[in-house]
Amino acid sequence: MRRKTIVGNWKMNGTHESLDEARAIASVAREYPGVDVAICPPFTLITAMATACPSMTIGGQDCHGAASGAFTGSVSAEMLRDAGASLVILGHSERREALGETSAIVQYKAMAALSAGLDVILCVGESLAVREGGRATDHVTQQVLQSLPDMAGHGHARLIIAYEPIWAIGTGRTAGLGDIAEMHGAIRRALGDAGRDVAILYGGSVNGDNAGAIMALDDVDGALVGGASLTADKFAPIITAAA
Ligand code: PGA
Repeated sequence: MRRKTIVGNWKMNGTHESLDEARAIASVAREYPGVDVAICPPFTLITAMATACPSMTIGGQDCHGAASGAFTGSVSAEMLRDAGASLVILGHSERREALGETSAIVQYKAMAALSAGLDVILCVGESLAVREGGRATDHVTQQVLQSLPDMAGHGHARLIIAYEPIWAIGTGRTAGLGDIAEMHGAIRRALGDAGRDVAILYGGSVNGDNAGAIMALDDVDGALVGGASLTADKFAPIITAAA
């Protein structure tokens, strides 16, 4: 059985003042024990948020693929765990596009994260040019297959896929329900037998108004939410829709 999973990606937003908002989100989440709710704040808030919200899953937004070493400015998967995170978002399009992260790099990071015992949210998604060129499904399933870590021997760490069309992120545009259903089905087929248990989240301008219809689709197991995850007011209706 795949559980509904709602993950807030705070991106580069939030200081210690935002912990009250996180506490309010955690208290909404406690009302819906059937939904897995997580927040991925900036690195600087992980420990404080894990302490302030012990009932909620806290994640990072990236990690390095190496365990330690001379990588100025980077944070390893083990460090995320040590800070209080239990999952990590990897391969977000804002990193693939702006920082040149390839699927091979994402796969390397995913292996490190699983080895450290972190659940992994693997992000994939096509640009508008790729969608308009009719190559979205090919592009996204290739991204999945090339970024996918080898799950063997990684205990109970979970793999989650997040499909986020790049043109839908932060733009107020969401993909059509038919396109979302088709893409999630294609991703699940690409995963083969193992895909049965993998939660596939949709992301890109998800809000309280559109979340219900999107999550009612067959292969949509939840949402990865940016802007609407920053306040309990906006995030709560999405958690409710999942329940
Ligand atoms: P958005 O971001 O909900 O603000 O569109 C989603 C994401 O980038 O994960």
